[in-house]
Amino acid sequence: MDQKYFRNHAVYQIYPRSFCDGNGDGIGDIKGILSKLDYLKDLGVGIVWLSPVYKSPNADYGYDVSDYEDINPEFGTLAEMDLLIAEAKKREIRIVMDLVVNHTSDEHRWFLESQKPNSPFRDYYFWRIGKNNNTLPPNNWTSNFGGSAWTYVPASGAWYLHLFGVKQPDLNWRCPRVLEEVESILRFWLDRGIYGFRCDVINQIWKDSLEDGKKTLWVVGAEHYSMKEGNHQILRKLYEDVFSKYDCLTVGETYQVDFVNARRYEDKELDMFFQFDTMECDQALLPIWRKKFPPKAFKKTIFDWQHEVDWNANYLENHDQRRSITRFGDSKKYWKESGKMLATMIFTLRGTPFVYEGQEIGMLDYPLFQKEQYKDPVDHYIYAKVRKLHFTPKQALRMVQNANRDNARTPMQWSDTLNAGFSSGKETWLPLNPSYPKINVAAEEKDPDSILAYYKKLFAYRKADPILSYGDFEPMRTKASIMAYFRAYDGHMEFVLLNLTKKKVWLPRAIRQMKGQVILSNYLGAGFTYKRYLRPYESLLVKIC
Ligand code: GLC
Ligand code: CA
Repeated sequence: MDQKYFRNHAVYQIYPRSFCDGNGDGIGDIKGILSKLDYLKDLGVGIVWLSPVYKSPNADYGYDVSDYEDINPEFGTLAEMDLLIAEAKKREIRIVMDLVVNHTSDEHRWFLESQKPNSPFRDYYFWRIGKNNNTLPPNNWTSNFGGSAWTYVPASGAWYLHLFGVKQPDLNWRCPRVLEEVESILRFWLDRGIYGFRCDVINQIWKDSLEDGKKTLWVVGAEHYSMKEGNHQILRKLYEDVFSKYDCLTVGETYQVDFVNARRYEDKELDMFFQFDTMECDQALLPIWRKKFPPKAFKKTIFDWQHEVDWNANYLENHDQRRSITRFGDSKKYWKESGKMLATMIFTLRGTPFVYEGQEIGMLDYPLFQKEQYKDPVDHYIYAKVRKLHFTPKQALRMVQNANRDNARTPMQWSDTLNAGFSSGKETWLPLNPSYPKINVAAEEKDPDSILAYYKKLFAYRKADPILSYGDFEPMRTKASIMAYFRAYDGHMEFVLLNLTKKKVWLPRAIRQMKGQVILSNYLGAGFTYKRYLRPYESLLVKIC
């Protein structure tokens, strides 16, 4: 196995708006990130993935880019971005940016130009004449953010396609100039010293046809643009023309990816990608309905992916998902134990571990957002949709909470002082989670038994231990509540044992007979040889003798 940097370094995702505010306007920024680089170094971070920092009118908080080669003034300047890359490098931290090229902002120069019917940019987007004498959208596709996926522009005499918000027109990847433009953007940033890209909704950028889609409850049309042949060809071309020429990392956001396509993405298209099966293991029909955490299904998604592809992007949280302890652990009595148990899993699976800001201190979901507090446009859309189905306002709030992306976007909790140390301003752009007097970096830095202290050990061990970085993965069949697996490399073996539940679980004989030394555990003084049961959420990383 090659020894690429991302094999033994973990990624830390920063959502810039919520990480640290350097100028007191209540919004995180690059100056704030600069001030926390030493924190990241001390934590052991080798790679930072920055959610979008490009110029953007913020219709989707940066996932609507109006200039790919400039920085959002709320976040800083291009000079500050260069400084960030340089200062991070000094601390042996590499920076990965977000590549959002399924769509641009409607305020991007290309889109503004494209509105003129004879413009050379017309073909950059999907401008089409509607059905029924141009009075109805060209097809029945619906947008991920609600309503039709088409919007009519009178001055243009046509409709444009947007799989996401109205302000996020889709790029037309059949147009060869789109590919050229994107390649030039990639080089622009790689030449400035960044280490690669997290590629937003990358498995949907190629639209195979614009025919009507099958009717479904949620999004209509996906069978015409999800993981088509053209999509693989584009990714291969980007790889051949650009990525293969740099020492870099590419990770794809690949919603609903299946094993067949996954294996193709792995082969000279992307270095790794995010599967969504684990994120959906507790989903009942729609994201707004959640089942009680199902350990068996959770474990199955992870083992299946470990089995099917060579190198996974292992994650439990990001800016679109709820906090993992709230979902997969216990936010009350076993907050610490379950937080450390989930961390152990992410760092010991085969693949690159991804940690989302705040995960390392065990941040939790916001208790319950009120409608007036929603920032994410998706919350409003889901709320309206649920209300239309005749659920009461109270029920609607609860259901939105289950999918609410603002849960992960509340400001980072640095201390128990004003605004949790996130900002010196009067107000923060999203409210602070009221847990911050207890859950914060300053408090956890003082506590050798904290979740943060445990993450530090994991970051360090992951870097130093070749078994976790390069070793094979072998699952062990056992009880549903237990997750157990081996990692093996060069004649050495490690064993991971996790209790996914809050109940004490007796160990099966096969495990009781094993002998080994504990490398890391979330209970003080835990042993392994002769161990008979696991305590609530107990986790062990063991060297097998
Ligand atoms: C991805 C991003 C999400 C964004 C969407 C549209 O799913 O992670 O935040 O809203 O793409 O760009
Ligand atoms: Ca700011």
